[in-house]
Amino acid sequence: LVVLSLSASLSAVEIVAHRGFSSRAPENTVAAFKLAWEQGADACELDLLLTKDGEIAVLHDEDAKRTTKVPMLVANSSLAELQALDAGSWKKAIFKGEKIPSLEESLASMPLGTKRFLLEVKSGPEVVPVLAKKLSKWRLRGHQLCIIAFNRTVAQECKKALPWIKVYRLSSEKENKKPVDLTKLIADTKADGLDGLDLGLKWKWSEAMVKQIKDAGLELHVWTVNRPGDVKRLAELGVDGITTDDPVMARNALEKK
Ligand code: G3P
Ligand code: CA
Repeated sequence: LVVLSLSASLSAVEIVAHRGFSSRAPENTVAAFKLAWEQGADACELDLLLTKDGEIAVLHDEDAKRTTKVPMLVANSSLAELQALDAGSWKKAIFKGEKIPSLEESLASMPLGTKRFLLEVKSGPEVVPVLAKKLSKWRLRGHQLCIIAFNRTVAQECKKALPWIKVYRLSSEKENKKPVDLTKLIADTKADGLDGLDLGLKWKWSEAMVKQIKDAGLELHVWTVNRPGDVKRLAELGVDGITTDDPVMARNALEKK
């Protein structure tokens, strides 16, 4: 019975495809999101940046060079200029022509129901009103959205502008040189939870620390976990969600008897 309930709780852990199914498809493209949905991911994470013409582009870096081979600063470019680039070939020739999606194009890939997008806001607070306007059309599907951000002001502003969408504060070892009181960090933002870097892997977070967050009624997610043993260990520690480049590996790790 104990084994059965443990495996039931492990399979309840939300598997989040980091930048889509980014180990197989070009990160932050509709191809990567579709593959993740098809392959059973519960959620996709994406990165968003404000363009020069006040649109929202989905890519990780401030410069498009790494994923398109063309140096182009997002903040100095229009969405149309960015969308003319090839964001697929760098990963594999079969993805040639895959473009940098807009926020709307990315969201449109998500099936109706319970799957979610974790929207990482990479721009500063100036993007919040734009994001709030675009997401206002998604009110009926608010449960399928979650905003994540490292920036305290961005997280706070998002929670104020979009109270019907969950917000998780992002936390990383780079940002916090030593362990901090995570419950305070979340409360400080008035966030619904925390998305932390490889929580449990480097700082050796204990079950008690996870419990403290959960007991406070907050959610705990971790990123980016790419080894089956780590997926299993973090799930057993009690995290709510695991962000990974390989959602199939994560699913198999959680379902392995
Ligand atoms: O899920 C959080 C994670 O995506 C933050 O790091 O660099 O991949 O955006 P990064
Ligand atoms: Ca991200």
